[in-house]
Amino acid sequence: MTKIAIVYHSGYGHTAKVAEHVQKGAAHAGAKVDLIAIDAEGNLPESAWATLKAADGIIFGSPTYMGMVSWQFKKFADASSKPWYTMDWKGKIAAGFTNSATLNGDKGSTIAYLALLAAQHKMLWTGTDMHPSNNKAATRDSLNNLGGYQGLLVVSPSDASVDEMIPGDLKTAEAFGANVAEIVKSVKR
Ligand SMILES: Cc1cc2nc3c(=O)[nH]c(=O)nc-3n(C[C@H](O)[C@H](O)[C@H](O)COP(=O)(O)O)c2cc1C
Repeated sequence: MTKIAIVYHSGYGHTAKVAEHVQKGAAHAGAKVDLIAIDAEGNLPESAWATLKAADGIIFGSPTYMGMVSWQFKKFADASSKPWYTMDWKGKIAAGFTNSATLNGDKGSTIAYLALLAAQHKMLWTGTDMHPSNNKAATRDSLNNLGGYQGLLVVSPSDASVDEMIPGDLKTAEAFGANVAEIVKSVKR
């Protein structure tokens, strides 16, 4: 069974919900998935580092705050210099997602940073493996209607509670999780 770890930060619960949907999709595709939350202080449970080391693929997730990952995610990234030093994550599949309030919201720089982090670890970055829904018939409920290739993009409108997140985005998160799981499976074979 392929093992995937999803390591994410969420300040107010929206990105956590995205992570749960990515997990659902990956699990549906047959992977064993561990959800690892970075806490409000930017720390992980100590055992999570072993889970990350044992994973075949790691999916990074962060809200976009001021056009970048949250400081808590960056603290995790800096702490990952320890497994970097021994190249523990080298050769693992990596992917990433972000969530923010605005349709664009400068999510691109967050995803680019996640891909850069993966490159520093000599991981193999994979995108969403999804076409964008960008024709006249597309709506916010269409699959990948935000058109992310490099990573999964989600919008949580600024006044939306976690329960009011956009169904199309959560459906896209599940499809993304399934795609990453299939890629991890094919590389592991
Ligand atoms: C400090 C801070 C900075 C933010 N910066 C951005 C931003 O640059 N672009 C954007 O679209 N939304 C921005 N937002 C909105 C959040 O990305 C949005 O509320 C998101 O759903 C929060 O996810 P969370 O509930 O997992 O923390 C910001 C929110 C906060 C608190």
